[in-house]
Amino acid sequence: MKVSVIGAGNVGATCAEYIALNHIASEVVILDIKENYAEGKALDLMQTATLNGFNTRIVGSTNDYSKTANSKAVVITSGIPRKPGMTREELIGINAGIVKTVTDNVLKHSPDAIIIVVSNPMDTMTYLALKESKLPKNRIIGMGGILDSARFKYYLSMALNAPASDINGVVIGGHGDTTMIPLTRLATNTGVPVSQFIDAQTLKKVAADTMVGGATLTGMLGTSAWYAPGAAVAALVNSIINDQKKSFPCCVYLDGEYGQKDICLGVPVVVGKNGWESIVDYKLSAEEQAAFNKSADAVRSMNSVLNEMK
Ligand code: NAI
Ligand code: 2OP
Repeated sequence: MKVSVIGAGNVGATCAEYIALNHIASEVVILDIKENYAEGKALDLMQTATLNGFNTRIVGSTNDYSKTANSKAVVITSGIPRKPGMTREELIGINAGIVKTVTDNVLKHSPDAIIIVVSNPMDTMTYLALKESKLPKNRIIGMGGILDSARFKYYLSMALNAPASDINGVVIGGHGDTTMIPLTRLATNTGVPVSQFIDAQTLKKVAADTMVGGATLTGMLGTSAWYAPGAAVAALVNSIINDQKKSFPCCVYLDGEYGQKDICLGVPVVVGKNGWESIVDYKLSAEEQAAFNKSADAVRSMNSVLNEMK
């Protein structure tokens, strides 16, 4: 099965690497607008194949979309990343143009692909890709909540001094410093609510650290992170390619679910060969629902920038 990754930068190349290392697809095409850049990344990655024991064929392409033809899933990471001090929202103008063009080109060659949007501001870019492509809603998935949840679980594991694999936790809402909602009430350590192990103050700090998780890394690295984002995308691709029906928080089109309409926002969904296949209802508390509504308002106001740009 073929997967294409548009944008051979930090996130794109890392996700291609994880797809190969985890034997998720037989072929990964990475495409970039920069001359020979994707080819170089593909060549370098292919030279790790014998060392790392994978058989995935990784192919690079400079803006030649015919190489991506008949992909089952396409990941859009093309765009500019967040710089220190820059909000995801500031990226909107530049990345909207890129995501629109890329989506059109992808669908010319892979009309049946499931599209995963990574480029920021991701919630708005997912909405844009859906509206521009007019694809069935289940075929457009924004990746943000899986990454935010991984960061949430990391901070919980640190606070609990427990292995991350024992922790469960989900972040819903927008993929923004102020729009994401770590669901602390539902987080568990070996199935037991974390509130039984840590006090409310610590849990509040875990949630706050999670919310600025991306910005913290951007400050340290001088650009946004790529290992955890790449791994999060690979996990999502795996569930699509291998029809795993895993439940992940993803940015999807809401039509009344969670009390919201005409917006793409992070909610738990089941992911399989058809893209996102159903939305899981977590039965939010009144406080969580209020936070979700606030998050929707913020994302909706960012989406309105798209109309102003037209
Ligand atoms: P990067 O700068 O390392 O890579 C982006 C690549 O896209 C570059 O190689 C660039 O040449 C390429 N590109 C630009 N325009 C293109 C076009 N029209 N067609 C094909 N390729 C094009 O950036 P990085 O770190 O890989 O981040 C990519 C995007 O993902 C950014 O918007 C970033 O903010 C976002 N991001 C989103 C995350 C999420 O959870 N949703 C997590 C991490 C990053
Ligand atoms: C991240 O969360 C910036 O969206 C990017 O790392």
